[in-house]
Amino acid sequence: MGRPDGAARPGLTPVHRLPEPRTPGRYRVAVVCLGNICRSPMAHVVLESRLADAGLDDRVEVVSAGTGGWHVGDPMDRRAAATLSAAGYDPSRHRARQYDAAWPDAYDVVLVMDETNLADVGGRSERVQMFRDHDPEDPGGEVPDPYYGGDDGFEEVLAMVERTSDAIAAELADALGDPA
Ligand code: 4NP
Repeated sequence: MGRPDGAARPGLTPVHRLPEPRTPGRYRVAVVCLGNICRSPMAHVVLESRLADAGLDDRVEVVSAGTGGWHVGDPMDRRAAATLSAAGYDPSRHRARQYDAAWPDAYDVVLVMDETNLADVGGRSERVQMFRDHDPEDPGGEVPDPYYGGDDGFEEVLAMVERTSDAIAAELADALGDPA
């Protein structure tokens, strides 16, 4: 997006670039994991923070959801919230939602955390990618589920989410440009 030949970021194939906006100058991102209490909420909060830093928060909307509905209405997992708080983010506004199959037709891009999520939303498509397709250090992998592990897993998720959100915000800044 914004780089028709992809040459400005060597090594990126077209699948690693965000789809074109449905509405020029605006963008809507949906981030999806299994429970919407750990990974996608962390990505949601960090990406919103990066977009605000870039002055894009009035033109880019971020939502998150889980493919499963067990935690709908719940706040973030306390370990995810603690990891975000310790890094200076505000986890308090999150409430879990469930993914809706209409989202790839509504949002500009649906970014999933792992291969199971990808299968659950029907696989890759024009509007469905892996979140870490945009990881500038190690693109194409999964954000591993930290739910059943220790605190280290949440730190690892935060590092992946921060560097990937930096790259997504930079790509959107480039694509959306200055406000009209
Ligand atoms: P998340 O983690 O998909 O990153 O939010 C999980 C949260 C809850 C469950 C599994 C994964 N669960 O089985 O309840």
